[in-house]
Amino acid sequence: MAYETILYAVDGAIATITINRPKVLNALNPQVVAELGQAFAAVAADDEIKVVILTGAGDKSFVAGADIAAMSVMNPVEARNFSRQLQEVTTLMENLPKPIIAAVNGFALGGGTEISLACDFIYASDTAKFGQPEINLGVIPGAGGTQRLSRLVGKNWAKELCLTGDIIDVALAKEIGLVNRVFPAEELMPAAIKTAKKIAAKGRVSTRACKDLINFGFDIPLDHALRLEAESFGMCFASPDQKEGMSAFLEKRKAEFKGSK
Ligand code: CAA
Repeated sequence: MAYETILYAVDGAIATITINRPKVLNALNPQVVAELGQAFAAVAADDEIKVVILTGAGDKSFVAGADIAAMSVMNPVEARNFSRQLQEVTTLMENLPKPIIAAVNGFALGGGTEISLACDFIYASDTAKFGQPEINLGVIPGAGGTQRLSRLVGKNWAKELCLTGDIIDVALAKEIGLVNRVFPAEELMPAAIKTAKKIAAKGRVSTRACKDLINFGFDIPLDHALRLEAESFGMCFASPDQKEGMSAFLEKRKAEFKGSK
């Protein structure tokens, strides 16, 4: 697949997707969003890939939001459709049966914060900045910012960020639980790759089950979610990885997971 606005690289079990419009700080226009959708569909279809890293090209920005020049000429229907397109891709990411690490290497504003929220966790450089500045443009977040942000950091922080449009530094982003870990800029990608490799070495069935259960159990009653956990726990015992993991422990050796795809 030839992409024009993203870079797609695979190294062993790890795919790296880089949003590549550095002249406009990697702003998301409909073409980028479409290509992201194609790239994540390619990841889903490739049995060799176990983990994805999402980042932005250049050293200044992850994604500075949706493309304001492209949005400025949209009519209400086009704007609604663009929001749905962004929501469909972020939902595809959330539902992807493989973990996605956001490596936020600079500005993550508007759609940039929102797309990082659809990843499974966020690693950030010490230069990263987050925010939902849509209110300063007379609009609101349209890629899940009013929904995923509040679910991650709580309603009151989500309201402060969406209502003020303030850009926050990475220290505050970490304090409110938006970012998992912060690294000096040059150490961000090595750290993301190291964690991706660690996850890629685990069993596929248990990796997928963890992601699914944490995502889908979150918004349903606890007793229902716990039942789902028990079902998935049981299903892990159908995987060769369970036999390998437990045998390796008992035989005092490192497990080598080669389980089903
Ligand atoms: N859309 C289109 N172009 C953008 C852009 C965006 N979101 N963000 C930056 N650019 C462009 C600038 O227009 C500029 O282009 P030119 O060189 O042709 O003038 C180039 O990228 C560099 O940007 P700046 O000169 O502004 O760089 P800076 O360092 O002075 O400022 C910034 C950086 C604070 C990130 C600033 O660019 C900015 O505020 N960008 C907009 C952020 C924003 O409002 N994002 C939310 C968009 S709305 C949204 O995302 C809706 C949604 O949820 C669906």
